[in-house]
Amino acid sequence: MKQQLETIRQQALAALDAAETPAALEELRVKLLGKKGELTAVLKQMGKLSPEERPIMGQVANAVRADIEAKLEERKTVINAAVLEAKLAAEAIDVTIPGEAVTMGHEHPMNQVLQAIKDLFVGMGYTIVDGPEVELSDYNFTKLNTEEGHPARDRSDTFYFTDDDSVLLRTQTSSMQIRVMENAKPPICILAPGRVYRKDEADATHSPMFHQIEGLVVAENITMGNLKSALVTVMKQIYGQDAVMRFRPHHFPFTEPSCEMDMQCHKCHGTGEVDGAVCSTCHGEGWIELLGAGMVHPKVLSGCGIDPEKYSGFAFGMGLERMAMGRLKITDLRLIFDNDVRFLNQF
Ligand code: DAH
Repeated sequence: MKQQLETIRQQALAALDAAETPAALEELRVKLLGKKGELTAVLKQMGKLSPEERPIMGQVANAVRADIEAKLEERKTVINAAVLEAKLAAEAIDVTIPGEAVTMGHEHPMNQVLQAIKDLFVGMGYTIVDGPEVELSDYNFTKLNTEEGHPARDRSDTFYFTDDDSVLLRTQTSSMQIRVMENAKPPICILAPGRVYRKDEADATHSPMFHQIEGLVVAENITMGNLKSALVTVMKQIYGQDAVMRFRPHHFPFTEPSCEMDMQCHKCHGTGEVDGAVCSTCHGEGWIELLGAGMVHPKVLSGCGIDPEKYSGFAFGMGLERMAMGRLKITDLRLIFDNDVRFLNQF
């Protein structure tokens, strides 16, 4: 029996030394020390021994068990350290490998210009408002003193949704004047930027969708002088203090009197010619139209429940793309919408 125990000890220690993984170690522990293990099987035969032999064999068996347990612990420490080592090596990050370059985008040039214009008006006390692009004809035309049959309502210019022409894609942000005046009492001082739609073929200066920025100020004693000073102040901030501007008389159904504001062409500086040829930016005009404006028509005020005897107001609607083209010195509107990154990266 002593021989048997000795064999178990030697084989066990050799097997434990050869074990490489925590799983192999566990398997050995069960095989050697478990209830159905080899050592237990030997100990079960102790009963057959004589009383003298029994304590001696017991001592030997305990010593074998202690050796195996000590070896198990020793291997466990070594193997766990190796496992940890391997794990750390596998998860190591090489901080010297160059990272992947992240290309950062930036605000679209048109939004840059819009933001600059909004900031200027907010600085003068205007509130920014937003409204629907799918609009009622009532708001887009009728309440803006543009009666049925007016050429601006023509089906060839306007995207209508309904056969009775009562719902449309707004053709101008002026619809926001009505929405604001119907819901607020003077003093009113708002700016309403947004998309508008017209049945235009796209060319250098036209697009079926473009952006306008509507402004409306209604209070007591508002005059054309207030309109001019607000617009000139903003334009000089956008185009520089030496920018040249002019106001021309015009007609809009919803303002009286009405005007348009032009800026001297940034390409030909008002001469209409570049290198002996007609300037392609202003088509030889020397001026670029920026916006329509005027004093809010008394009929429009009273239609919204505002007393035209007490209050007066001015309104303007500028083309954002026109403003952006002047500010960014570009000559084709389509560049703004194409979103070619080679173009966009320049701003
Ligand atoms: N809505 C006009 C257009 O699209 C522009 C305009 C003219 C706006 C006069 C106004 C205004 O607010 O007072 O052509």
